[in-house]
Amino acid sequence: MRKVKENVFAVGAIDWDRRLFDELIPLPDGTSYNAFIVKGSEKTALIDTVDPEMTPTLIKNIIQADIEKIDYIICHHGEQDHSGSAAEILRLYPDAKIVTNAKCKAMLIDLLCIAEDKFEVIADGDSLSLGDKMLEFVFTPWVHWPETFCSWLVEDKILFSCDFFGSHIASSDLFVKNEDKIYESAKRYFAEIMMPFRTAIRGNIEKISKFDIEIIAPSHGSLYDKPSFIIDAYKEWISDKVKNEVVIAFASMHGSTRAMTDYLVDALIDRGVTVKRFDLVVSDLGEIAASLVDAATVVIGTSTVLAGAHPAAASAAFVVNALRPKTKFVSIYGSYGWGGKTVEQLSGLLGNLKAEIIEPVLVKGHPKGKDLKALDEMAEAIVAKHRELGILK
Ligand code: FEO
Repeated sequence: MRKVKENVFAVGAIDWDRRLFDELIPLPDGTSYNAFIVKGSEKTALIDTVDPEMTPTLIKNIIQADIEKIDYIICHHGEQDHSGSAAEILRLYPDAKIVTNAKCKAMLIDLLCIAEDKFEVIADGDSLSLGDKMLEFVFTPWVHWPETFCSWLVEDKILFSCDFFGSHIASSDLFVKNEDKIYESAKRYFAEIMMPFRTAIRGNIEKISKFDIEIIAPSHGSLYDKPSFIIDAYKEWISDKVKNEVVIAFASMHGSTRAMTDYLVDALIDRGVTVKRFDLVVSDLGEIAASLVDAATVVIGTSTVLAGAHPAAASAAFVVNALRPKTKFVSIYGSYGWGGKTVEQLSGLLGNLKAEIIEPVLVKGHPKGKDLKALDEMAEAIVAKHRELGILK
């Protein structure tokens, strides 16, 4: 339990050991589930809860904050890493009401089997008085579920933003101390969770800009007492601007696709392009996702397996497509033994991207002179496109 401001306490849990989220997202630095108590002169609100496994920590912290009565549990988001202890808190504080919007209420009934009469439903812009403290609710849909909203604590100028602006990092720093480290964690988090919703996020950032924010208190990672740091970072990530970067993600079975990768990487570096190279068999999905935030071009390399792409390459294409980065150009290269439909298969998996396809290079067996020339041509085509965008001189 830590004090954020007078009568505002952080009562969530740091999960130092968790290494996978949603059975999908690697967590190299663990994470935290931030929850807060706001104690007004008349009423007390718990802002979000924690992942079910951390419920004992939340309860211990509430007790340590000397809270005998909870009147409201503000549930910003239905996902269980924030709502998962709500039923247990209701058992301990039976007079409490869950304050949330209609969409989140329906989710919490579906997901947690909470009784209908335990809710107070709020609308966008509504406020809730705790006596000498007032909460205002701001709906911020699609960061990253449709029901998500934020709470603005008027007197203390704190924006409780739930997943919005969060970062998966277990840290003893209540407030951000190492901005470089948090920038990387928050960017990775944005890429994995928020990137498909860039347009909605743009609107939501405008919506919160009316507040004179002193503290952003997200539900994962440290709190921001210099909010412009993370708001400016988000503005950059959601912009349409791309950088002179190529993400090369490849899977090679017997070395031919790896040889093509090495050649293409060098060809691009020689031409002044920044390359982010990932061997899909050993790479961290979060690092690949983060690299997609800025890259102008994505190139997928693959061996041929059963007449199609290597499953790791197909999986990468599927993930890139789902994350909808602002990538402007895509291409494919690889090697085959006797044939296949790799290009058709992979390009079919990338339908969400509004990207131009640069001529793929598929070669029979190990790459030879004419194949390397084709890779030079691919590098030249990428360079020409980057020059057209003005991101490469
Ligand atoms: Fe941190 Fe969408 O839950």
